[in-house]
Amino acid sequence: MTILVTGSAGFIGANFVLDWLANHEEAVISLDKLTYAGNLENLKGLDGDSRHTFVKGDIGDSELLTELLETYQPRAVVNFAAESHVDRSIHGPEDFIQTNIVGAFRMLEAARAYHARLSAQAAAAFRFLHVSTDEVYGSLSPTEPAFTEQHQYEPNSPYSASKAASDHLVRAYHHTYGLPVLTTNCSNNYGPYHFPEKLIPLVIHNALAGKPLPIYGDGQQVRDWLYVKDHCSAIRRVLEDGIVGETYNIGGWNEKANIDVVHTLCDILDHEQPRVDGLSYRQQITFGKDRPGHDRRYAIDATKLERELGWKPAETFESGIRKTVRWYLDNQGWVNNITSGAYRDWVSRQYQ
Ligand code: NAD
Ligand code: DAU
Repeated sequence: MTILVTGSAGFIGANFVLDWLANHEEAVISLDKLTYAGNLENLKGLDGDSRHTFVKGDIGDSELLTELLETYQPRAVVNFAAESHVDRSIHGPEDFIQTNIVGAFRMLEAARAYHARLSAQAAAAFRFLHVSTDEVYGSLSPTEPAFTEQHQYEPNSPYSASKAASDHLVRAYHHTYGLPVLTTNCSNNYGPYHFPEKLIPLVIHNALAGKPLPIYGDGQQVRDWLYVKDHCSAIRRVLEDGIVGETYNIGGWNEKANIDVVHTLCDILDHEQPRVDGLSYRQQITFGKDRPGHDRRYAIDATKLERELGWKPAETFESGIRKTVRWYLDNQGWVNNITSGAYRDWVSRQYQ
């Protein structure tokens, strides 16, 4: 038995493949285009593991997808591949349309053709799990209840609009063609291998480098944080027992204002690796221009997943964030390898 995982060299995809092979004997074919966000170092722990096969390629390449499906006959596809950074989608939406919409469409087409050729038994067992985000639901006021699966779609950035489009395509392939799909909509992840363009790893990296810790606007925007390994365990659970055609929200009930997250990171670093001058890393916080169209608040209601599939996160924000800071302190080589060349160009474009 085999599963096909796309976007496997990115932050969540890599954590998923590592955790999958730590928990299962079942082999993984992993497909990734290795964009700036894809990093084979994330999968280094699998070198020499015969259960893992890495293929460099694009989810928009129909021929490659067909070949992979026919050759490896996976019993499931888990689609993580995407352009994932909201700020980059504001600077240049084109790649988001190509990968998140056209790429998802090509995957669905390849999966549909493959599914149609499977035996009745294999076709009934096959699953296409599409990994999506809470951002498709738009922004909440401070007092509105958290997003349930019934919340209407109101995406506000090119990124979230492209993810919303892919969710709709996935839904349509189930209703129209009977493709056995599952969709998950998760809140903000954090943890090992998080690319340092996103808030948490960026703040850890900049703090240690003596650079400003950039807060957009007033820092009161709220995100709902989930430790990445809890996201991975939820996806495994949905793949195992999720009802075909259903969507599942994934979140850890950890709403935090950005400024509070940054304060927490500074406080942990003050303890774990104090500045040489003895001052707090909070000294490095700077407030700057806001993100255009910045969503004010996300919050996930994960009751359905908890009630129907018995999933619960293993980490609290307090335990997960400590593990995360420790991981970055212990893996400075990983950070240094990716914060060169192209990364520097991005940082100077975004924060000048
Ligand atoms: P990431 O940017 O770290 O990784 C994305 C991976 O996809 C990279 O390895 C990249 O090389 C690969 N990729 C990009 N375009 C590709 C293409 N055309 N073909 C094949 N591979 C391609 O993203 P992430 O944070 O790991 O997110 C993974 C998925 O989870 C995305 O679909 C994202 O929308 C979703 N998600 C992310 C979060 C989060 O907080 N990071 C939360 C909820 C949902
Ligand atoms: O909600 C799930 C989403 O979470 C995923 O779908 C996305 O793929 C993922 O990137 C993430 O999106 P966000 O935009 O919420 O994450 P980011 O880390 O970019 O920003 C988190 C918050 O911090 C957001 O309110 C913007 C703010 N921020 C971010 C950066 C990079 C700052 O204040 N300063 C910064 O420099």
